[in-house]
Amino acid sequence: MVTVYDVAKRAGVSIATVSRALNDRSRVSPETRRRVREVAAELGYQPNDLARSLVGKATQTIALLLPDITNPFFPELVKGVQTVADERGHLLLLCHNADDEDKALRDLAMLRRKQVDGVILVAGALPGERFAEAAAGLPVVVMDRAVAVPQSTLVAVDHRAGARQATEYLLRLGHRAIAHVTGPEHVPVSAQRRAGWEDALRAAGIEPDERLVVPGDFQEDGGFAAGRVLARQRGRFTAVFTANDLTAIGLLASFQEQGIRVPQDVSVIGFDGIHLAAYTSPTLTTVAQPIFALGQRAAELLLDRLAGQEPPADVVTLDTALVIRDSTGPPPGDPPAATHPTSRTRVEESRA
Ligand code: RIB
Repeated sequence: MVTVYDVAKRAGVSIATVSRALNDRSRVSPETRRRVREVAAELGYQPNDLARSLVGKATQTIALLLPDITNPFFPELVKGVQTVADERGHLLLLCHNADDEDKALRDLAMLRRKQVDGVILVAGALPGERFAEAAAGLPVVVMDRAVAVPQSTLVAVDHRAGARQATEYLLRLGHRAIAHVTGPEHVPVSAQRRAGWEDALRAAGIEPDERLVVPGDFQEDGGFAAGRVLARQRGRFTAVFTANDLTAIGLLASFQEQGIRVPQDVSVIGFDGIHLAAYTSPTLTTVAQPIFALGQRAAELLLDRLAGQEPPADVVTLDTALVIRDSTGPPPGDPPAATHPTSRTRVEESRA
């Protein structure tokens, strides 16, 4: 293997000069830079990042810890992180832990041994204090799900405000009895979205009905099962807000199987804005998160921090947007809204 010593010897310069010439450092004449680079290319020299990291330099490697990669929300998030990492010359390592707390901690320990420069965390079941202890001293940006990691920055939407936005839209359509299918109990955003549903109902003078709250798991199967449970209360509700889009997709299938028409009998609105939501039948109205932008922003914040910049704030909040499609309409019996030719998707107000 060709080393920096071989390049220095052939070019007739010191090892330090080779490093400066190959790393665009100053204090090297153009002639020397050209000669060193020609010799390195001729010998086929590849800098050894591991060796660099052993002398206390950065490895230009960051990691993203994710609880799930099957939900389309997360690949879109990864694309945002990856785009910035590529633009800024960093390698991105992806660690998926399927909500397994011990796996997440094992991944983190291995990442530290590999000298990663920093980590972006989307927490699953992992409580912040255990992660914070294992990540002590490592730059961390928390994305999407708030967990207590000291000196970290959180990048997320306002989940409670987004859920309120969804429920307020159903209220504007004339619905009063609005059910809610929750997210998984252990995920912090689930409670925030349920609170937003409750906030909107109470602001309209409606006391949330516990009998219309059905547990979900952020997956299609959970939405399908919730549809079976809600069908037993048919007539007691005219709309459903689900904690994420995959749950809504399972609910649509369940209602269809049970002969419940959407939106004629029941309106359904989701949360996330995954690409698939535009292709369901009926197409899904949802509160869209800026998923790609969340990933980009998290990566920018981490890499800026590695470059010595102070984070702009402890929490960076991005806007959601209400995306109106065909799964929502006025309550049954109300005169249908004036139907006019619209695009398949109409985006309404956004909300921080
Ligand atoms: O759909 C998956 C959910 O987990 C999303 O709503 C996202 O916010 C993440 O927390």
